[in-house]
Amino acid sequence: MTSKLATRKKESYKIFDEIARSYDFLNHFLSFGIDIYWRQKFLGALPNLDKINALDLATGTGDVALILVKDKRVEKVTGIDRSKGMVDIGRKKVEDKNLTNKITLELGDGVEIPFADETFDLVTISFGIRNFSDHKRSIQNIHRVLKPRGKVAIMEFSLPKNKLMRALYLFYFRNILPRIGNLLSGHGDAYTYLNKTVEDFPYGQEFSDLLSEAGFKNVSHKAYTFGVATLYQGEKLKC
Ligand SMILES: C[S@@+](CC[C@H](N)C(=O)[O-])C[C@H]1O[C@@H](n2cnc3c(N)ncnc32)[C@H](O)[C@@H]1O
Repeated sequence: MTSKLATRKKESYKIFDEIARSYDFLNHFLSFGIDIYWRQKFLGALPNLDKINALDLATGTGDVALILVKDKRVEKVTGIDRSKGMVDIGRKKVEDKNLTNKITLELGDGVEIPFADETFDLVTISFGIRNFSDHKRSIQNIHRVLKPRGKVAIMEFSLPKNKLMRALYLFYFRNILPRIGNLLSGHGDAYTYLNKTVEDFPYGQEFSDLLSEAGFKNVSHKAYTFGVATLYQGEKLKC
């Protein structure tokens, strides 16, 4: 990773503060609505437990938290993010849906994770971890805050394996998406930065290996939409 990109990652929440108002619209617009389908996949990654206390890191505007509570076993979701602008919009969505009894959104860091050991049954991250300054440290802390039998589920962008799909995707991704994103968000280079973080991310087996190294078992990854997004899962077994 270039040192410039590493420095920007530490402060990426400031970019999200600046684009928070257009974030949800642009997400759906630039992904042709497929991001909604990708987030639904978290419902298939819940631990096999009767009651689930979940933590959603880099929760942004709260979409994953809102999906998780669709499963009645999910009693509570705490979402944390470093961007106040994103969290404020998420809180409004939670209030509008009368879900404040189940979902709490707070400011907090997804790398250091400000919760005690063995607090949660499930930790999720959707399209957030590539923005973290230290993936390894975040994963170690996720393992720490999970209870035995708990699960981690992380959705992140990846690149298609098929050469033609990859070329088409990279053309859209490098040339079209940043231009439209920057224009419609009114931000000079937010979407140029976001694209760099995607191409810099250690996706697929490389990321699964990081989960295994942190102590997760039954680690798997599954690619969606020609490999544009990948869902990683792992379990913390009883010590
Ligand atoms: C692409 S958005 C994803 C938001 C949401 N999870 C979703 O699926 O739409 C990335 C989010 O990561 C947050 N973020 C970046 N670095 C962070 C960190 N160290 N701790 C917590 N959140 C962070 C940003 O503020 C932003 O809201």
